[in-house]
Amino acid sequence: MRVKDKVAIVTGAAQGIGEGIATRLAEEGARIAVVDVKLDMANGVAKSLKEKGTDAIALQADTSKKPEVQAVVDEAISHFKRIDILVNNAGIHRMSKVTEITEETWDKILNINLKGYFLMVQAVAPHMQKQSYGKIVNIASVAAYGGMPDQVHYNASKGGIISLTRSLALEFAPFKINVNAVSPGAVETLGNKRFLDHYRELVEKRIPLGRIAQPADIANAVLFLVSDEAEYITGQCLSVCGGLSIGTAPGI
Ligand SMILES: NC(=O)c1ccc[n+]([C@@H]2O[C@H](COP(=O)([O-])OP(=O)(O)OC[C@H]3O[C@@H](n4cnc5c(N)ncnc54)[C@H](O)[C@@H]3O)[C@@H](O)[C@H]2O)c1
Repeated sequence: MRVKDKVAIVTGAAQGIGEGIATRLAEEGARIAVVDVKLDMANGVAKSLKEKGTDAIALQADTSKKPEVQAVVDEAISHFKRIDILVNNAGIHRMSKVTEITEETWDKILNINLKGYFLMVQAVAPHMQKQSYGKIVNIASVAAYGGMPDQVHYNASKGGIISLTRSLALEFAPFKINVNAVSPGAVETLGNKRFLDHYRELVEKRIPLGRIAQPADIANAVLFLVSDEAEYITGQCLSVCGGLSIGTAPGI
């Protein structure tokens, strides 16, 4: 068991990559706070973890709202008494020409995808600092590195996460809190369904390893980064993308 009895908060864990991460950490012995804006679905995930013997709770928050974030962290502390691991994963994706992105949509993407990560860190950090132990993993995207048309708001938010990760790693190093990022490529999730419905064939062809990721592929990388095996790794961004970030498959 690689994270036995560690307490983990996973945001956006009601489905998709977040659910995959919560499930994988639970399999390796962690206790889990399933945080999501969708309480019913978060309850479903927590219930299925509990059925497998995990101490799990579902907590509702819109992670872009500071009072809601503080409330779920307080609830997690009251239930588990400590927080060892934070996985910032809750995020949304939209596609639109830059000339058509409204200010409201820009703010929504940046508020959830970037400010939400900051708010979660700010609420959790005092607990991790007090115990001089913590592991934070921020889910970014390969979209943070290369340019991509029709999603500049999303890409800017993901680029911000990389920068946030590096600066937090430096600020928290004296407290033995590791902060890293994982950048997925294309992953089979509900949130990515519309994108994959349009571009599946093209994306599959471009991925050197020849397949779209499953949430478990991302979860395995997160598990490594929050385990003691990664004790000497901080401020790093690991792309989990089947090679997509370094080039394209032969013949493309
Ligand atoms: N699926 C991919 O191909 C892919 C690729 C790169 C990066 N990512 C990133 O991985 C993360 C998860 O993506 P996914 O594909 O699993 O998405 P998803 O839409 O399937 O799941 C996201 C979860 O986050 C929750 N959520 C959304 N806004 C929230 C908010 N304000 N507060 C709390 N919870 C909220 C949703 O309710 C949902 O349960 C996101 O940050 C996404 O940008 C995904």
